[in-house]
Amino acid sequence: MSKEKKIAADKKSPSAVTGKALDWTLLSRVMHYVKPYNKTFVVAVFLTIFLAAIAIVQPILVQRTLDDYILKDNYNGLLTMVIIMMAQLIIQTAAQYYQTYLTNWLGESVIRDLRTDIFNHITSLRLKYFDRTPIGVLITRTVSDLETIADIFSEGLISIMGDMLLVVAIIAAMLYMDWKLALVTLIPMPLFFVATYIFKEAIKSSFQEVRTQVAHLNTFLAEHISGISVIQYFAREDQEMRKFVAVNEKYRDANIRSNWYYSIFFPVVEILFAICMGLLVWYGAQRVLTDQQLVWLSPNHKPVTTGTIAAYIVLLNLMFRPIRQLADKFNTLQMGMVGADRIFKVLDTQEVAENNGTVNTGRIKGDIRFEDVWFAYNDENWVLKDINFHVKPGETLALVGATGAGKSSTINILNRFYEIGKGKVTVDDIDIHDYDVNYLRGQIATVIQDVFLFTDTIANNISLNNETITREQIVSAAKDVGAHEFIERLPGGYDYNVMERGSTLSAGQAQLISFIRALVYDPAILVLDEATSSVDTETEILIQNAINKLMQGRTAIVIAHRLSTIQNADRIIVLDHGEIKEMGTHQELLKIENGFYRKLYDLQFNSAGIAR
Ligand SMILES: Nc1ncnc2c1ncn2[C@@H]1O[C@H](COP(=O)(O)OP(=O)(O)O)[C@@H](O)[C@H]1O
Ligand SMILES: [Mg+2]
Repeated sequence: MSKEKKIAADKKSPSAVTGKALDWTLLSRVMHYVKPYNKTFVVAVFLTIFLAAIAIVQPILVQRTLDDYILKDNYNGLLTMVIIMMAQLIIQTAAQYYQTYLTNWLGESVIRDLRTDIFNHITSLRLKYFDRTPIGVLITRTVSDLETIADIFSEGLISIMGDMLLVVAIIAAMLYMDWKLALVTLIPMPLFFVATYIFKEAIKSSFQEVRTQVAHLNTFLAEHISGISVIQYFAREDQEMRKFVAVNEKYRDANIRSNWYYSIFFPVVEILFAICMGLLVWYGAQRVLTDQQLVWLSPNHKPVTTGTIAAYIVLLNLMFRPIRQLADKFNTLQMGMVGADRIFKVLDTQEVAENNGTVNTGRIKGDIRFEDVWFAYNDENWVLKDINFHVKPGETLALVGATGAGKSSTINILNRFYEIGKGKVTVDDIDIHDYDVNYLRGQIATVIQDVFLFTDTIANNISLNNETITREQIVSAAKDVGAHEFIERLPGGYDYNVMERGSTLSAGQAQLISFIRALVYDPAILVLDEATSSVDTETEILIQNAINKLMQGRTAIVIAHRLSTIQNADRIIVLDHGEIKEMGTHQELLKIENGFYRKLYDLQFNSAGIAR
């Protein structure tokens, strides 16, 4: 194993990878999801045991038919035997059908439930988690890693149990028929177990590599399709193509390596099988001849007959079918466990905003106070340092400052998307931690620069499928914002289907939709984070009117590059490297000689000569 590969494998899932053949705690967690389907599970297990038992009936019937009927020219009973054999086959086939169907049904049901849980959990995670986790990885978890868990049931656990039972039953039947013949025939078996073990270990690491490469492939694809416009604008197709070729190549190599192990293992098993057959024929034939004489001497001697040899041939065939797949199934099981381990890791991620607050009634007035607030995304790399301000209900606060000054961070902590390090934030003089998080967020509408629209109708994108919001409310809000006309002109109007990420609308139109979204939720506090940065002048006028409408009777925090949009704010805060440098009204701040705000203002209005 190459060093690189080993590291990749280790990184993935330490407990399930380095653990024993089976991690019982993990398995019991998976089994927890079987509980609702206990009856199906029991029936499936029962059918599996039944299948192992009924399978060895067939060789015994073959032996009887040969020895008692065909070789004795007894054609009367032969028909009965044929009917019994056919009945056995039909029962076996029916049982097989139900067993396959039930185990698959079970696996798919379990992962459907798990998938619901994981989606539910992912959507509740804090933004901090997504800062570190690529989308492609999460998609791999919820789709392909989950599939491997379904296989635990359809091809893994139950199937392995059935196969092992079958092998034991076959060996028992062989020993029962003639223990000497059984021992000679099965001489190569230990060799076989060694080969299986080696194969299992080899294939395990290569499977892991395949899983790792699938995640890479998914991440690469998810990112590049999302960022397709960047790639095309900068004509980076060729370079990205080359990167993709490399990722793709690694995936191919990983798959080829695992297939290579198969291409060695299967012929080895065939050879061992042939040796067993050879031993059977060689020793069996001798025994048939000598035993015939022995029976003459002592009638109690149980001979090896032609029927026994035929039964053995059927038994050997029966035995090698599951044995060939046993290593594979163990790996399927192991892969399922690795998948389960990863899924449960996501489910165990405790990065959810603590929701211990209880205040969840009444309407917030919108009094916001930051007291000595310090905030960092990581450890003590303070992004906000000792922030103090107070916004009274109905007032508008504007935040200005260079990119990276900490403006967006300020509003993110108000929403409790991230938790503050030191200090206190209150809304209506109640600590934000004392509010029910969902209630608090419901009272604050945030409009950001990057509008996200789902593949859905305009109406649903506005209401976000909230059934309490009526079509009348949506239309009325759209009229208030001044977007009604353009929506009506779209084919289907409010039922017009927005394509993925709003790609069929202009940036300004998408932004207007996000304003309507904020308005129908009728928030007490309105937050605008550079909401007007990506629109043309004409739309800006429209949007400025929309904003004025939105701000009526609400507390507002506005972040804007264009100072023209914030001149009327009751208070303006200038942030720089996470610190408040200046605070006051537009007029007050302009008076500060050499002040930050003054410089910003001169830059935008005087040097360029136009407000922008
Ligand atoms: N999710 C994040 N994780 C870690 N650091 C972040 C994150 N978001 C922003 N930062 C950092 O915090 C600082 C302030 O960012 P931000 O509040 O977004 O600035 P602004 O909105 O004023 O442009 C920047 O240095 C930025 O790199
Ligand atoms: Mg920002």
